[in-house]
Amino acid sequence: MEMRPVLVAICLLLVTPITGSFWTVGSQVVMDPMLICKKTRRLKGKLADICRKEPALLKEIAKGVQVGTRECQYQFRNRRWNCTTVRRSLRKILLRDTRETGFVNAITAAGVTYAVTKACTMGDLVECSCEKTSSKGNRLSKITRNAERNKNVPTEGEWEWGGCGDNVNFGFKKSRDFMDAPYRKRSDIKTLVKLHNNDAGRLAVKKFMRTECKCHGLSGSCTVRTCWRKMPNFREVGNRLKESFDGAAKVIPTNDGHSFITEGPTIKPPSKVDLVYSEDSPDFCKPNRKTGSLGTQGRQCNSTSPGVEGCELLCCGRGYDTKVVKEKVNCQCRFQWCCEVTCNTCVVKNSVNTCR
Ligand SMILES: *[C@@H]1O[C@H](CO)[C@@H](O)[C@H](O)[C@H]1NC(C)=O
Ligand SMILES: *[C@@H]1O[C@H](CO)[C@@H](O)[C@H](O)[C@H]1NC(C)=O
Repeated sequence: MEMRPVLVAICLLLVTPITGSFWTVGSQVVMDPMLICKKTRRLKGKLADICRKEPALLKEIAKGVQVGTRECQYQFRNRRWNCTTVRRSLRKILLRDTRETGFVNAITAAGVTYAVTKACTMGDLVECSCEKTSSKGNRLSKITRNAERNKNVPTEGEWEWGGCGDNVNFGFKKSRDFMDAPYRKRSDIKTLVKLHNNDAGRLAVKKFMRTECKCHGLSGSCTVRTCWRKMPNFREVGNRLKESFDGAAKVIPTNDGHSFITEGPTIKPPSKVDLVYSEDSPDFCKPNRKTGSLGTQGRQCNSTSPGVEGCELLCCGRGYDTKVVKEKVNCQCRFQWCCEVTCNTCVVKNSVNTCR
């Protein structure tokens, strides 16, 4: 479960032009954006520019891929497909066009947007800095616009933009430049779906920026406030994308082949933030080389839950084994004046269920 703290990340750009750019450390598929750069030396354009001229940005991109991967594993920890980074499996998942493919693409694009934006705010990149909205004319129009759009913005009293806001547009753009650039000229259905889901991921960050304010004035009287824009935390981004995954729409190419529509006339067209896919998922019950399914044998399940993490669904009806494990925990803790807590060690028995 733990990712290694090395600059190691899943390869998401591996579909076509750069399929050769993933390798393994242990059993993980890893991607170093630097390696993608090597593979794409012949390419021109924005990707090549980042590769040649922006090594610090590349490092942030790698961090972003890792942020996305961790969140993916958290969101899917109790499901049949658990966002595994086992190479042979992930490779197959990414070469297809299922909901799972869509989620991995979206969360990665979101992670890159997030990490690059954070780096700007922290002052770690020379190319960008905090968002500063201080010009006066701009300020007034922004206040009215934001006051309508954003309930957090104070509507009464004096306030102004200031502080150090998250410059999400920069992160958004760099995520696009790096992840989408190699695909921009193609219009097969998989590419269209991929670009759509990448953007849906980025929008899950950008559309949910919130406003934070700080009071100034005599002893916190809040006569003047400074406000700035801040990204949602990444768990929220993950939760939103997981919802989009659950409601993802299946699409088919239009006749001209330049866009897609939902399959079936009654389903409303997907909005920019919805995830889409063009291939049905396997059930992930049994190992299958072709689909990248690892199967669920040996996975832990919850015997009393009726949900996806419950033994019935997770084990696909095959049944499960129960084992009692002893665990040491802190118990009978006492607070001692002042200020220490002392505990005894107790052994508790837990039953662990694993799928057959
Ligand atoms: C995901 O599931 C596979 C088997 O299906 C298991 O080997 C692996 O440990 C799981 N990974 C995580 C991160 O839980
Ligand atoms: C198992 O599922 C039940 C019912 O959903 C829940 O109350 C319980 O906390 C779960 N147990 C674990 C260990 O997650």
